[in-house]
Amino acid sequence: MQNEIQQIVKKLQLLPHPEGGFYRETYRCETVIPQSVLGYDFNAQRNVSTCIYFMLVSGNFSAFHRIKQDEIWHFYRGSALRLYMISLEGKLSKVKIGSDILNGEMPQFVVPAGYWFAAEVIAENSYSLVGCTVAPGFDFADFELGDKVILGELFPNHKEIIEKYCR
Ligand code: GUN
Repeated sequence: MQNEIQQIVKKLQLLPHPEGGFYRETYRCETVIPQSVLGYDFNAQRNVSTCIYFMLVSGNFSAFHRIKQDEIWHFYRGSALRLYMISLEGKLSKVKIGSDILNGEMPQFVVPAGYWFAAEVIAENSYSLVGCTVAPGFDFADFELGDKVILGELFPNHKEIIEKYCR
């Protein structure tokens, strides 16, 4: 399995992502949306859309983070991952991103803008290779990693999950 993971990381030229896992941006639309159209939520213009490969390996996790736009997840290969989401109202939900549709896994799923979310591979000794597409396009200025203490105070009902999936 480690060999397969290494081969995929190499073939797809993936690099470590600050939220955990590996990624590479595969698409950045050349057309730009001016800040006057985006509004004050965004600090500058953004490309219309971007897309990445994202690979998560068992035993690691994607830490709670949020972005300012909806994020569309697409499952490609490996085994299913579980996404944990905390809505703007503080409601926790979970979804499995995978290809076993008949057992409730979703090959495609949209995480709404502003939700805090984290992810982990469900199976041991495995990996999940997915795609993440956003519009407006991704910019690290719109990306915020969750702080364990602050999130725990904001959402005391979900403290356990927050402590498990923050760094
Ligand atoms: N580009 C760099 N990081 C990310 C990310 O976390 N999500 C998306 N969609 N694009 C990115």
